[in-house]
Amino acid sequence: MSEAHNKMGLPYHGQMEWSIQPASRIDAVSYEIRGTLAKRARELEALGHEILYLNIGNPGAFGFRTPETMRQAVIRNLQRAEPYGFQMGIFPAREAIAMQFQDRGLKETRYDDVVIGNGVSELVDLSLRALLEPGDEVLIPSPDYPLWSASVVLNGGRPVYYPCPPDRDFEPDLEALASAITPKTRALVVINPNNPTGAVYSKETLKALAEFAKAHQLIVLADEIYDRIAYENTDVVPMATVVDGGVCLTFGGLSKVYRACGYRIGWAVLSGATDSAKDYWEAIEKLAALRLSANMPGQWAVQTALGGHQSIAELVAPGGRLHLARQAVMDAADASNELSLIAPKGALYAFPTIKAIDQAEREKRPLPFTDQDFAETLLEEKHILVVPGSSFNFQNHAHFRLTLLPEPDQLREAVGAMDEVLGQMLGR
Ligand SMILES: Cc1ncc(COP(=O)(O)O)c(C=O)c1O
Repeated sequence: MSEAHNKMGLPYHGQMEWSIQPASRIDAVSYEIRGTLAKRARELEALGHEILYLNIGNPGAFGFRTPETMRQAVIRNLQRAEPYGFQMGIFPAREAIAMQFQDRGLKETRYDDVVIGNGVSELVDLSLRALLEPGDEVLIPSPDYPLWSASVVLNGGRPVYYPCPPDRDFEPDLEALASAITPKTRALVVINPNNPTGAVYSKETLKALAEFAKAHQLIVLADEIYDRIAYENTDVVPMATVVDGGVCLTFGGLSKVYRACGYRIGWAVLSGATDSAKDYWEAIEKLAALRLSANMPGQWAVQTALGGHQSIAELVAPGGRLHLARQAVMDAADASNELSLIAPKGALYAFPTIKAIDQAEREKRPLPFTDQDFAETLLEEKHILVVPGSSFNFQNHAHFRLTLLPEPDQLREAVGAMDEVLGQMLGR
């Protein structure tokens, strides 16, 4: 047996120094919503500071409750939730989701066009794993919800970004999109209503995206997890209803609309020219089988969630808590010297602009500081955690994201604190 040697080449008789190295592809992805700033926030909390966590859209953490009937549905079926279930999900849940699609005008949708997963998060990964060959490209909005980029990379693909810039109210720049296509492009990701910007795309925009995807034989991956969270009567047009002749996979779930993040239930629905996607759907089923089944107790809440009264409607209507929270952030941004805000039309976030950075970027001057510097200072000085805009695969350093979930007064105060910190950082 050969002799062990230490790093200096000398014989070593004790325990070898060694370390388990993670796969290098992990270095290529990031998820700063729960990254280094969040870690620092937890350290400050451990020192006894009270932290206002505006980094995650987690309704239950801000006192929002899952509708009671959903809880009942889980409790009453808990005994039936002990075995593994069918890999694609339980029938009543899949059928309820298919019926929702039928109500939207997609009359052909059947339960077997639906797969249920452990949150949309799992299905994003699974749908890309079933699709991508090494080097395949996926068109992703910038800014994005960074799970999409990470999942593309982890599955051997390459994210290619199409800009959704603030001067278009965060709607996609269709010309830039057209120039991003290559022979390796396989899919178009559309996040609507959008996280992080709060944009809700017009029907014309969605139609143009659908036409583009069809012309280039791309599958549309439509992330609509915020589909019922829209303000001021903004219409959320389901992508599947405008995909004509192409293939669409729509993602939805219980986390946001039904305030049940912890249930870990999401779904994906195949629509459009489903015959062209038969092999792909079988690949998804195979991957679903490999992980046996999705969370069983949570699946029993789906049918109850989707039928009957939709309590999210009151939360987003004038006078509702989310509406008031959004208004509070808009008013506070209006009153601020240092911030501006494109009013979010949907979802659970605001994505304000730091005016001084924006101006410097436009004039191609050196930045006074970056979005990251601001988020760090805000955390250290005011114990408020936000996510820098550049964490969303956005080249622009003038933005940050905060969630609209806290009480309106708390948000008003927090935006005031942000204005104060920015004033200090700018030496005003
Ligand atoms: C746009 C978007 N897609 C997907 C997800 C993941 O949701 P889930 O809880 O269903 O995994 C989120 C969560 O914040 C999201 O914002």
